[in-house]
Amino acid sequence: MDVKQRCAEKALEYITEGSIIGLGGGSTIKHLITLLKENKMYVKVVTPSWETKQTCNDAGLEVVSITDVTKIDTAFDGCDQVDQQLHALKSGGGIHTREKLVAGLSEEYILLVDETKVVPVLTYDHPVVLEVLPQALRFVTQQVESFPVRSSHVRHSSEQDGPVRTENGNLLLDVFMKAGQDSADLERRFKGVNGVVDSSLFTSVVTKVLVAGETGVQEMNK
Ligand code: 5RP
Repeated sequence: MDVKQRCAEKALEYITEGSIIGLGGGSTIKHLITLLKENKMYVKVVTPSWETKQTCNDAGLEVVSITDVTKIDTAFDGCDQVDQQLHALKSGGGIHTREKLVAGLSEEYILLVDETKVVPVLTYDHPVVLEVLPQALRFVTQQVESFPVRSSHVRHSSEQDGPVRTENGNLLLDVFMKAGQDSADLERRFKGVNGVVDSSLFTSVVTKVLVAGETGVQEMNK
């Protein structure tokens, strides 16, 4: 069995009928949506991801707006890397501000990963992504130079298309860090730069990680 499918099956055990759940993006979350449909579970879904919203609609799951809820029972998400302190880095999607909002509204925020994503401490092979107000780009880029960075680049979809805009109309700055950072401190410092809406470091919101490997699914807890 695909390890991501195995991880999604374990996640199903944390979902109760009638609850409000958060679903992030990625292939493991897609497996979970399929399982919710197959098991005919009734839940309300809040999602920061346009793609996940479409997949839920296709599966017949009820999707509610984040603005209509004051609390989410359990949220599930993926990440690019997570360490033993449950500090996680998300890079690809560029929807981390809304993902963190979902995490903050949730009683439990559970990451679903395969074992290749788990490391002793974050290695920063992937960039930390900053969502930046367009007017603040020059200021933020200057400020970021005083951080322990290797390089930083505004994200473009292709040479012709210009910079990527988030659903909030902002820009994404991919910041490649040197290894050996205090991740919690780094998240606080990025958040403190005027014009940064949020970073893709998640060092205080993850409550559990389900790690799928060939032999089964292990839990990592706060
Ligand atoms: C992007 C993310 C995604 O949630 C993550 O990449 C999904 O991974 P997978 O497809 O392996 O479930 O954090 O930044």
